[in-house]
Amino acid sequence: MVKIAPSILSADFSRIGEEIKMVEKAGADLIHIDIMDGHFVPNITFGPDFVKTIRKLTTLPLDVHLMISNPHDFIEKFANAGADWISFHIEASPHPHRLIYQIKNLGKKAGITLNPGTPIHFLNEILKDIDFVLIMSVNPGFGGQEFIPSSLPKIAQLSHWIKGKNLSIPVEVDGGVNINNCEELVRNGADILVSGSGIFHSPDPSETIKKMKKICERIEK
Ligand code: DX5
Ligand code: ZN
Repeated sequence: MVKIAPSILSADFSRIGEEIKMVEKAGADLIHIDIMDGHFVPNITFGPDFVKTIRKLTTLPLDVHLMISNPHDFIEKFANAGADWISFHIEASPHPHRLIYQIKNLGKKAGITLNPGTPIHFLNEILKDIDFVLIMSVNPGFGGQEFIPSSLPKIAQLSHWIKGKNLSIPVEVDGGVNINNCEELVRNGADILVSGSGIFHSPDPSETIKKMKKICERIEK
């Protein structure tokens, strides 16, 4: 089953409780939370206290995407704040294997994120150890950017590689995902669709989630 993960970066923060309830009711599977430090990416967003607040607003799993330098210093703080899925950028750490097990030992799902310019073969030695892969289809830092087309064959190759190894590691896609390209993404192997502006800036966000889910279900049949 393909999962839909609304990215609350594009939500209305002044009504964050209502926004969370709305996506939950519409059928969202995960809540995607973007953590930016103004160093690894040129933008600053949320810290562990914000994640703690969101934790109180929903029972959906919290998918925390760390776009930060020195991720090892913050993994425990985000885990304690209520994150369920935690991914970090492979470009941000020389010790991805250690970090994966740091996350897993905290009882959380461990993911590795790849920037658009990072090849999938960087995962070669650690693929079997990770719980999910997050493919960035924009350069991280901002919502509302355009999907980078070369991400599509990258997703297809990764999905093919995972299946060929008889592994079941979901491929999550983040950046420029919307109602118009979700079908193609799933056909090319995407298992989890992150969408920020594609959902929250659409005329009817709740309807958009429902439509995206329907499109995905149709492909799965
Ligand atoms: C970008 C973030 C994304 C962002 C996606 O750096 O990682 O999760 O919220 O936003 P859209 O869907 O608007 O491209
Ligand atoms: Zn993200």
